[in-house]
Amino acid sequence: MQNFMSVSLLINCAISACAFLITKQLIPSLRDMFIAANLFGNDLCKRNKPKIPEAMGVVTGCMFLIALFLFIPVPFVFNEKQVNEFPHNQLIELISALLSICCMILLGFADDVLNLRWRHKLLLPTIASLPLLMVYYVNFNRTTIILPIFVRNVLGSSIDIGILYYIYMGMLAVFCTNAINILAGINGLEAGQSLIIAASIIVFNMIEMTHDSNTRMEHAFSLYIIVPYFATSLALFMFNKYPARVFVGDTFCYLSGMTFAVVGILGHFSKTLLLFFIPQIINFLYSIPQLFHFVPCPRHRMPKYNATTDRLEPSKTQFHYKDLNIFGRLCVSIFRLIRIIEWSESDKDGVVITNNFTLINFLLVVFGPQHEQRLTHYLLVVQVLCTLVAFVIRYPLAKYFYEY
Ligand code: UD1
Ligand code: MG
Repeated sequence: MQNFMSVSLLINCAISACAFLITKQLIPSLRDMFIAANLFGNDLCKRNKPKIPEAMGVVTGCMFLIALFLFIPVPFVFNEKQVNEFPHNQLIELISALLSICCMILLGFADDVLNLRWRHKLLLPTIASLPLLMVYYVNFNRTTIILPIFVRNVLGSSIDIGILYYIYMGMLAVFCTNAINILAGINGLEAGQSLIIAASIIVFNMIEMTHDSNTRMEHAFSLYIIVPYFATSLALFMFNKYPARVFVGDTFCYLSGMTFAVVGILGHFSKTLLLFFIPQIINFLYSIPQLFHFVPCPRHRMPKYNATTDRLEPSKTQFHYKDLNIFGRLCVSIFRLIRIIEWSESDKDGVVITNNFTLINFLLVVFGPQHEQRLTHYLLVVQVLCTLVAFVIRYPLAKYFYEY
C-alpha cells in the first residue's frame, strides 16, 4: 500500500515538473496574445504605469488541470485493492475536486473579463463547492467536531453540528477564494502568498503521512492535487514577481482558494488549513468596515505610488465621521483607540482621512514608505512567520487542548 503510494507520488512529482517547465515557456509566449485581446491592466505602482497582461492564472490553471487529468489513472492502476474491489469513492473524490477547481477557473476568468459584482464573488464559490460537499456527504459525512479539554465537562468530548458543518465548508471555499484576492495589489503578492500556503500544506501532509498510518491515504490524495498546483504557480510567480511581466488576475486567486479548500475538505484538515491563512484572516477582519461599506471603500485599496521617491505610501480614504452609520463609527473608533489606523482630521470642515484598511497599508503605516519589492518581501516574511505559528498551534499547543 505504502509502496504504491510512493510510486504514485513520484509520478505526480514528475508530471508536476513537466507542467512547471511547460508553463514557464508558455507564459511569455502568450503575453502579446492577451494584450491583443484587451486582457491587460496597468501596473499602478510604477512611474509610467505599463500595460501588463492580466488573468494569466488561466494559463497556469489549464496546465494544472492537464497535469491532474494525466495523473488520474495513476493511483488506480497499481492499486492492489482493485483486484477485489475498485476504489470508486477515491476516484469520485479526485474527479469532484477537479470539477470544483475547473468551475472556479471559469468563474475567475469571467470575473477578469466581465468585472463581476461583489455579490457574485460570494455566490459563485459557494455553488462551485457543491459537487465537493456532495461527495463529502456520500463518502464521509462526518460532521462532529472534537471539543477542547476545558469544555468537555460541560459539553462532552465532541459535538455533532450536522448541516452547520456543510455551511462551514461552503463558507470556507468562499473565504479562501476572496481572502487571497483582497490581500493583493503589489507585484508578486497573490502568487507569493499562495505558494507559501501550498508549501505549508505540503509539509503538513508529509508530517501527517509519516505519523499517522490511518489517514495516510487522505494526505496522499491532497498531495496529488497540491504538488502540481505548486509547480504551475511557481512558474507564474517567476513572471509576476517584481517587476511584474504578467498579472495573475482573479482567475488565479479563485483557482488557488478553491484548490486549498478542496484539499482541506477532502484531506479532512480544514481547521488546520485555516491556520495557514492567519495573515488573510487578519486582513479580512481589518477590511470588514470597508468590505461592508460602513466606511467608504475605493475601487483600489492598494498602496499609493510616489513617483518622486519611487516608494509606496499608504493609500487613503476620507469621510465625515457624522456620515458613518453606527457600525462604521464603532469600527473606526476602536481602530483609532488601538492605533491600527493613521488618522487625521481637518479642523475646518471635519473631514477625516485614514489609510485604507488593508494589511499592506498597515505595514506601510508602521514601517513608513517602502519600495514595492521590499514591501512584498515583508508581507511574504509575515506569511512564513504565521505558518511557523500555525505549526506550533497545530502540534505542541493542540496536545494541551485536545490530547492528541
Ligand atoms: C482587489 C482589492 C483592491 C485591490 C486589487 C488589486 C478589495 C476589496 N479589493 O480588487 O483593493 O486594489 O485587488 O489587485 O480589497 N495591480 C497592480 N499591481 C499588481 C497587481 C494588480 O497595479 O501587482 C492592479 C492592475 O491595475 C490590475 C488590477 O490591480 O489590472 C487588478 O485588480 P483586480 O484584481 O481586478 O481587483 P479586485 O480583485 O477587484
Ligand atoms: Mg483581484
